[in-house]
Amino acid sequence: MTTSVTQHWLDRWDAQQERYVPDREERFRVVADVVAWANQENPHPKVVDLGCGPGSLSTRLAAALPAARIVGVDADPVLLALAAEAGVTAVRTDLADPRWPADVPLEGPWDAAVSSTALHWLEVGDLAVLYRTLAERLRPGGVFVDADHRSITPPALRGLGTFVRNARATRAGVVDNEDWTSWWDAVLADPDLSAQVDARSEVSICHDGNTGLTVDDHLGMLRDAGFSAASTVWQFGDDFVVVAVR
Ligand SMILES: C[S@@+](CC[C@H](N)C(=O)[O-])C[C@H]1O[C@@H](n2cnc3c(N)ncnc32)[C@H](O)[C@@H]1O
Repeated sequence: MTTSVTQHWLDRWDAQQERYVPDREERFRVVADVVAWANQENPHPKVVDLGCGPGSLSTRLAAALPAARIVGVDADPVLLALAAEAGVTAVRTDLADPRWPADVPLEGPWDAAVSSTALHWLEVGDLAVLYRTLAERLRPGGVFVDADHRSITPPALRGLGTFVRNARATRAGVVDNEDWTSWWDAVLADPDLSAQVDARSEVSICHDGNTGLTVDDHLGMLRDAGFSAASTVWQFGDDFVVVAVR
């Protein structure tokens, strides 16, 4: 794949994701800020990007923290190929399988684990195990930073978060951006990616996205998993950055 073909798909991916996350760049920046905060005495933090996709968060983190050692993990061969072309060290693994840390070429304990718009794909039981695995793998004082859609806790306000996010998307001019299905239809037809498309047909990646968990449910699960403190640090509508300190 040429650099310009890769960039074409990455640019289209970013526009497509912004349709759903209108303040995505600011949200990436907040994730980087939290990693920097937790590593003020640590010039070379070891960071794992969970569900890295085509490397979106990893590349922003590398720009913000050039001395960090960052490894992305994902289950999707097509997105991993784009991440590799973008210069991201990324490995294939299934985050629903508790053995996934063995696939990460970054010796532990890790200083941070980060994620964007990915962990809502996991079922509740798999997510609880993942949170426990992260608590075991991060150093004391290390952070888990997760940027994702979460339900606002009071049931009466559930629809408000999505309403506010959609209103922001309209104001930001991203509401008519290419959608998820259209991006995938286009990339899967790219002959340059046919080997990865074939490999992808062998992978089963769950994408229900509806765990029913509220943001407070997540914070409770993180404390139960062994994190000493957990909080939100950023919110827009139903879009949150959640931080858990080991
Ligand atoms: C919406 S994409 C987000 C990608 C990237 N983090 C971003 O913000 O652009 C969700 C990613 O999670 C990955 N993913 C979902 N379930 C997974 C699993 N069980 N194991 C590994 N990766 C998974 C998908 O393959 C996909 O790349």
